[in-house]
Parts: sequence; structure tokens; C-alpha cells
Amino acid sequence: MDLGLKGKRALVTGGSRGLGRAIATTLKAEGAQVAICARDEKRVRETALEIGALEYVRDLTPGGAGEALARDVISTIGGIDILVVNTGGPPQGSFESVSDDAWNTALNGIFLSAVGLIRAALPGMRERKWGRILIVTSVAALEPHPGLILSNAIRPGLHGLVNALSREVAADGITVNALLPGYTLTERIVELGVGDEQVAEQVPAKRMGKPSEFAALAAFLASEPAGYICGQAIACDGGLLRSI
Ligand SMILES: NC(=O)c1ccc[n+]([C@@H]2O[C@H](COP(=O)([O-])OP(=O)(O)OC[C@H]3O[C@@H](n4cnc5c(N)ncnc54)[C@H](OP(=O)(O)O)[C@@H]3O)[C@@H](O)[C@H]2O)c1
Repeated sequence: MDLGLKGKRALVTGGSRGLGRAIATTLKAEGAQVAICARDEKRVRETALEIGALEYVRDLTPGGAGEALARDVISTIGGIDILVVNTGGPPQGSFESVSDDAWNTALNGIFLSAVGLIRAALPGMRERKWGRILIVTSVAALEPHPGLILSNAIRPGLHGLVNALSREVAADGITVNALLPGYTLTERIVELGVGDEQVAEQVPAKRMGKPSEFAALAAFLASEPAGYICGQAIACDGGLLRSI
């Protein structure tokens, strides 16, 4: 199938490792021009060099950082046709262990950065009558996961944004969708100490997902043939989610 991605311009945030890196790699392999961003300068540069992407060393947490990044990318490559919003997950914790600072950081990093990125990318997509906006969230946004109060509370708001925004922009050829990773073997999952035993117990597929499997879903949703998929929250989770 021709995904129609040749020559499309993509920004993948959090693209230096894990799911973001896999998405950036796949989009590039499909012929898109790709820009990535993350905080760790060395890793951003190494990944950008390996993939053949443009590099932006940025922290998306400070107010206005998302919008500023998207504007800079647009001024360098002329526009963003595909925006993949992805950052690191917030720290673990229960309600009573989380401070106001942590709530603010998570809100800025996960939610408001997405708003800023979209605000800057959207006008050009509307003018060109084509755009794809993908937001990486989590299965925890549909079925809250113990000990992840920040993710459980904030990410469902992104699903509301995806659905509502999708209805506002669909007539201009722009789709907005959320992608929900289940257990997928990235550095983050290793750092969280998630083991194969736990996964085999919970996941019907009895294994973790591969970043390349998640990236294939993202590439399809970013593609020309996916133009009628609007406002959805789609999981790639080996059957983990139970909700119908
Ligand atoms: N992997 C899974 O099984 C899984 C499951 C459910 C949900 N998720 C969610 O999916 C997203 C991606 O997961 P992952 O496993 O790929 O995570 P990861 O391996 O930790 O990668 C996160 C990427 O985002 C960048 N990043 C983090 N904070 C940032 C910030 N403030 N500003 C800019 N870039 C930032 C990281 O680079 P720097 O650290 O250098 O900035 C890195 O490139 C996360 O939100 C995670 O919670 C993952």
C-alpha cells in the first residue's frame, strides 16, 4: 500500500528514543521529511544523524515551548503536515504523594505543550487542506493504572481534545487521533521495571509490543489512506484494554 507520505513534513516530539524515535524512523523510511525534538542534546543529535532527521534540542515543559518549537520547524522547512505529539510519561505516584509543582509540570509537559504545538501547526494545515495530528497517550487514559495518578488524570483530557478538535477541523482534510500504547519495550518500560512475568499475566498476547509495531500504526494514521479516521483513540496493546 502506498501511504502517500513522500515529501510530507513531519514533526515528532520526544523523537530521540522509544516510541517517538520508532515513529520518526518509520515516517522517514516512508519518504517524509522529519524533525525530532527532545531534551538530551547528545541523544537528539545521535538519533537525528542515524535517522536523517532535523534536530531540535528542546524541553516542552515550560509555557509556550510547544508553540515556539512548531513555529521554528515551520520557519525552517516551510510547514508541518504531520504532527506527532509525544513526550515522556509523568512520574509515578499516588494522589497524596504528588505536589502542586508536579501537577503543574505534568499539565504543562503533557497537555499544554500539545495545545501549543497544535496551535502553531494548524493554520498551515487548514490552508493546505491536509493535515494529520497524532497524540501519543496511554492505555491508562482509558483504564486508569494504579500508581499513575498524573497520567490517569491528565491524559483523558487529551482524548477530549482529540475528539472535539477533530470535529472542528475534519472538513479541512485534517484528522486528529490519539494512539494508546500498551506495554511496549522502550527505555521507559525498562526504567519502570516492568517485567516479562507481569506482562504475561496481564496481556492476552503474552508479550510486550515492539516500538516498530506501534510506529506502523502511527504511520498508517498519518497516511493519505487514513483520511477518514477522525477523533479516535486507538490502542496498540496486545489486547490489554477490556473496555468495549
Ligand atoms: N512504552 C510504553 O510501554 C508506554 C506505555 C504507555 C504509555 N507510554 C507513553 O508513551 C510516551 C512515550 O513512551 P516511551 O516509552 O517512548 O518513553 P521514553 O522512552 O521515555 O521516550 C520519551 C521521549 O520523549 C523525550 N522527552 C521526555 N520529556 C520531554 C520533554 N519535557 N520535552 C521534550 N522531550 C521530552 C525523551 O527524550 P529526553 O528525555 O532527552 O527529553 C524521549 O525522546 C510516554 O508519554 C509514555 O508515558 C508508553
